[in-house]
Amino acid sequence: MTALQVITIVGARPQFIKAAQLSEALKRAGHEEFLIHTGQHYDLEMSRVFFDELPIPEPDVNLEVGSGPHGWQTAQMLAGIEEILLSQPADYLVVYGDTNSTLAGALAACKLHLPLVHIEAGLRSYNRQMPEEHNRVVTDHLSDLLFCPSHTAVSNLKKEGIVRGVYQVGDLMHDSIVKNLTLAEAHSRILPKLRLEPGQYALVTVHRADITEKRGRLQALFQTFEKIAANGLRVVMPAHPRTSKALQLLGIAPVRLQLLKPVSYLDMLALEKHARVIVTDSGGVQKEAYWLGVPCVTLRTETEWLETVASGWNVLVGCEDHLIIRAVDKACPGKTRRDAFGDGRAAERIVAILSELRGHAARKSTDSQEL
Ligand code: UD1
Ligand code: UDP
Repeated sequence: MTALQVITIVGARPQFIKAAQLSEALKRAGHEEFLIHTGQHYDLEMSRVFFDELPIPEPDVNLEVGSGPHGWQTAQMLAGIEEILLSQPADYLVVYGDTNSTLAGALAACKLHLPLVHIEAGLRSYNRQMPEEHNRVVTDHLSDLLFCPSHTAVSNLKKEGIVRGVYQVGDLMHDSIVKNLTLAEAHSRILPKLRLEPGQYALVTVHRADITEKRGRLQALFQTFEKIAANGLRVVMPAHPRTSKALQLLGIAPVRLQLLKPVSYLDMLALEKHARVIVTDSGGVQKEAYWLGVPCVTLRTETEWLETVASGWNVLVGCEDHLIIRAVDKACPGKTRRDAFGDGRAAERIVAILSELRGHAARKSTDSQEL
């Protein structure tokens, strides 16, 4: 069998984590990957640290697009990716999730008729105020192969008429946690470094524009975190640079809440695993809480990860002070956890399907699997 040529687009923190799993499986199967980093995330703690810790190869190209308004950022990425695709032969272009890097990769592949593979397809919040929702919807509708992490994702696509090329394979982040949790437990020193006792702290992450770009909401939320800390539970927060910048701009300097720089993936897994409760607006962190069996309080009123809520492990509270405080006080383990997002072998399945369908992937020109 000749090796597949796969072009992968990454740019943001969670994409490095997911791509590491698929990169490893592609390599194991003897396939070749050309990795394009858009440069959407660029701080050492938001990018380099993941390449050092995880089995993701060094990018073949870094477009170094950096930060900026959505249209500008996506356009820069699109132009950069297109230029590379024109001279780089490939069987597939793979994009992950719902960021501007995802959308740029999808548009570039589509314009050049390169079979587009969307990993983490079919997720919906049904909140069109979120930039991620547009990115997901457009990417799914352009994709030839759609790899879904859950049954809900497959049903969401069906509601939009997307049934061809759809595969429920499980979640690469689950693969990642299965492989890395033991490593995190063995190697991370973050708990002793921060003098944290297992089960005696709340772990907080915040990065959505819906919070960081709204002055009143951000101020109120940090007052809530201060109250939780004042009530006796330690609160630690590895802060996304977007959040640190917003806090600085507004002159918010938490006293009791412990702000950290973003931490490495293994340190994050260790912090999550031993938290009494996780409070977050992150998609990935909600799922990790579920897999680790830690109660999660989500600072949103909707989620793409419905299964985490249905099982009782995750509660959606939005940004209301009293709802957050009550949810943190009452946080307790959910009832059941099923393998709603696969069994930790998503990467293997994706590579098997890519290999089998080689050359027949284009949804527009051939029939592929219909669910
Ligand atoms: C992006 C994704 C979001 C994903 C998140 C993962 C979009 C629209 N959003 O959000 O879906 O959940 O990544 O973390 O693509 N910044 C730095 N250093 C960095 C990166 C960012 O300082 O290395 C700051 C910049 O001020 C920038 C801001 O963070 O303007 C936001 O970064 P951006 O990549 O646009 O969006 P995220 O909030 O990271
Ligand atoms: N993460 C990390 N260090 C941090 C915060 C998060 O390694 O300081 C990891 C986290 O464990 C998860 C992923 O980053 O795997 C989630 O990324 P993020 O919350 O930025 O984005 P989202 O999942 O919301 O798109």
